[in-house]
Amino acid sequence: MNYDVKDIKLADKGRDRIEWAEEQMPVLRLIRERFAREKPLKGVTLGACLHVTTETANLMRTLKAGGAKLGLCASNPLSTQDDTAAALVKHYGVPTFSIRGENNTTYYAHIHSVLDLKPNISMDDGCDVVSTIHSERQELIPHMLGGSEETTTGVIRLRAMEEQGVLAYPMIAVNDADTKHLFDNRYGTGQSTIDGVIRATNHLLAGKIVVIGGYGWCARGVATRARGMGANVVVTEVDPLRALEAVMDGYRVMPMAKAARIGDVFITLTGDTTVIAGKHFPLMKDGAVVANSGHFDVEIDIPALKKLSKSVKPIRDNVQQYTLRNGRRINLLAEGRLVNLAAAEGHPPAVMDMSFANQALAAEHIVKHHDKLERRVYGVPKEIDREIARLKLKSMGVKIDKLTREQKHYLASWHLGT
Ligand SMILES: NC(=O)c1ccc[n+]([C@@H]2O[C@H](COP(=O)([O-])OP(=O)(O)OC[C@H]3O[C@@H](n4cnc5c(N)ncnc54)[C@H](O)[C@@H]3O)[C@@H](O)[C@H]2O)c1
Repeated sequence: MNYDVKDIKLADKGRDRIEWAEEQMPVLRLIRERFAREKPLKGVTLGACLHVTTETANLMRTLKAGGAKLGLCASNPLSTQDDTAAALVKHYGVPTFSIRGENNTTYYAHIHSVLDLKPNISMDDGCDVVSTIHSERQELIPHMLGGSEETTTGVIRLRAMEEQGVLAYPMIAVNDADTKHLFDNRYGTGQSTIDGVIRATNHLLAGKIVVIGGYGWCARGVATRARGMGANVVVTEVDPLRALEAVMDGYRVMPMAKAARIGDVFITLTGDTTVIAGKHFPLMKDGAVVANSGHFDVEIDIPALKKLSKSVKPIRDNVQQYTLRNGRRINLLAEGRLVNLAAAEGHPPAVMDMSFANQALAAEHIVKHHDKLERRVYGVPKEIDREIARLKLKSMGVKIDKLTREQKHYLASWHLGT
């Protein structure tokens, strides 16, 4: 089996951690058991580009149980857990190409290694596989049944391809499922981003001013968690509706140029570029901590920070300290890459249980229905979304009411009023 991981001797440690995560992923386990019986992915090769974490390893086990042949590479150069990658190769037989800290050349070489396996389904987190297929590996397009996309930024890129008429095969936007973004983006990113900032800095958040760039699903999760730890949260936004929500949720909202002067910790989660720009750094307090948890490392203008600095030194794991020419120090976490994955372990398995249940069922849906799907971006079918919510509640031992016949009738009628 072809693979490229840091150290295959880490495999046993990785397996223990993968099994530990699995205990928190009951919905995915149920799907794996069914897949093992029914083999819905038999004969299919699936090329995945995801954060190589213990949760992803459990998704790979599920897809393999379903009969798929697999190839896996990382969707971010800093998000790979090297022990997980080794375990995937040694214990689970998944060709894995990812090494934490790989440079851009190796990152793309690993994507090509997965594409060399000639996948029929792509599974992306950020759209790098799809964009590579469309730009450099077009010979694969006739074999593609479909693809799925995990994150907001990837879905934005796919919709741009669809609008420009260049999307060459059907896509399922897993991020758009309610059982994905309402939970993964909010509670997963909320908890793990704070976890990453704390592991990197060991700072106390209570009493600090935490400036959060954006107030989307991820950002509101981080805002809630930061407030819960006693931070004084400031939000910056460009969308009036989201800004208004932030105001009514009780946060201070202001432009970044104003927030830059008062913040102790800055976290961007917008999917946009240059949210913290060169002009903002000289305004910041000495010792400000700057981090990003949006998909790409473009939200903080790091080239500008470098230009403004007279020196830079690594001061702790995942912290680079830049000293500006005005003498103030700016602490950049995880090179501006996803802080929750680079400095912590990413989302906890209990929430990835639902995201990856969507991924597994999306793959099955593509295999079953690819002949009816067009070159478009589809949502996850509503019945899959609801079923995942139902199974998750069941696994948590939570029961809910059922609509009575009378209630169904009432909700479907327009005659009954005051
Ligand atoms: N860290 C993780 O593990 C993780 C998990 C899920 C998603 N993501 C990524 O996080 C990012 C945000 O995802 P989301 O689901 O919250 O998206 P979203 O679309 O719900 O929210 C993004 C928000 O950012 C705002 N925004 C855009 N440009 C801005 C600017 N210049 N200044 C301030 N606000 C701005 C938008 O108005 C919007 O409200 C995406 O890149 C997504 O791929 C990361």
